[in-house]
Amino acid sequence: MTEKIINLKNEAIGNILEAKDEKELERLRILYLGRSGKINQLTKELPKLAANEKAEAGRLLNETKRAIESALSNQLSAICSQLPAQKEWLDVTAPGIKPEIGHLHLLTEVIREISSVFEKIGFIRVRHPEAEWEWYSFEGLNMPATHPARDDFESFFVDSKPNSKLGRMVLTPHTSNGQLREMERIPPPIRMINIARCHRPNWDITHTPTFHQFEGLVVDRGINITHLKGVTDYFALNFFGPGRKTRLRPFHFQFTEPSFEVDINCPICLGKGCRVCKSGWHELGGAGIVHPTVLRNGGLDPAVYSGFAFGWGVERTTMMKYSLNDIRPLYESDLRLIYQF
Ligand code: DAH
Repeated sequence: MTEKIINLKNEAIGNILEAKDEKELERLRILYLGRSGKINQLTKELPKLAANEKAEAGRLLNETKRAIESALSNQLSAICSQLPAQKEWLDVTAPGIKPEIGHLHLLTEVIREISSVFEKIGFIRVRHPEAEWEWYSFEGLNMPATHPARDDFESFFVDSKPNSKLGRMVLTPHTSNGQLREMERIPPPIRMINIARCHRPNWDITHTPTFHQFEGLVVDRGINITHLKGVTDYFALNFFGPGRKTRLRPFHFQFTEPSFEVDINCPICLGKGCRVCKSGWHELGGAGIVHPTVLRNGGLDPAVYSGFAFGWGVERTTMMKYSLNDIRPLYESDLRLIYQF
């Protein structure tokens, strides 16, 4: 009997030391210490023994039981202390960690919104060159080099060979080059919205050297000022919201006659006049009826066709819609601004 108990002790402790996880340890605990485990089976044999043997076997069995218990608990702590290493498993069914996804920049969103507002009434978004010949940006738009109107258009010229007919190459200071380009591209009816980068050497609270304009041009038979007014009012309502409308204020541009500044009524007083706007109106941008010379330069007969055009700043329009008082943060990639939109 003594030998049986010692063998059991050795077998149990050997197995316990080899156990690799808690499950295996639990299985061994039941095998040796459970109600019908090996220790209890031997205990049941005790009554059969002679009195002197019985006491010795009983003592040994108790000692074995305690040894198995302490081996189990030591092995458990050994397994647990290795857990961090074992934790490096991969559960392919676990939900993944979502990467942080950004969003479009406010200016991109506004450009898309402007396009979609105009596309709903049949305008087609086009792109024309942003490095352009002087002819399309100035001369062809009735702005000869010596004309004082050119003073408003301080421009970046490209250091390259001029074209004998089209002049020097310039980074477009406005999107109006798109007017002549579009007349050359397709015959009337023309309904274009040209949104592009523009460049002028200015940097202050309302100007950045690179900015965007959106240029509208409609050319067909019988186009007049009422069509222009209808479109500017449509834009005010659909881009800025209920209650917004425009007014045309006489102005001067070389490429339109008559020319206007388009104003939009103030979002606070809707045109009555308040502390913020004073007059009730805010300036949106320029517009007018396409000058006959420009139509001619675009290859169209002004006796047959007429048109209207407008050219407004994307950044200015954005600032008016979202009440921003400084243009520069739109180009500074400051997340505190970007996250707000
Ligand atoms: N190109 C002008 C500018 O940048 C804006 C403008 C005025 C565009 C009148 C037009 C227009 O199409 O008709 O100041």
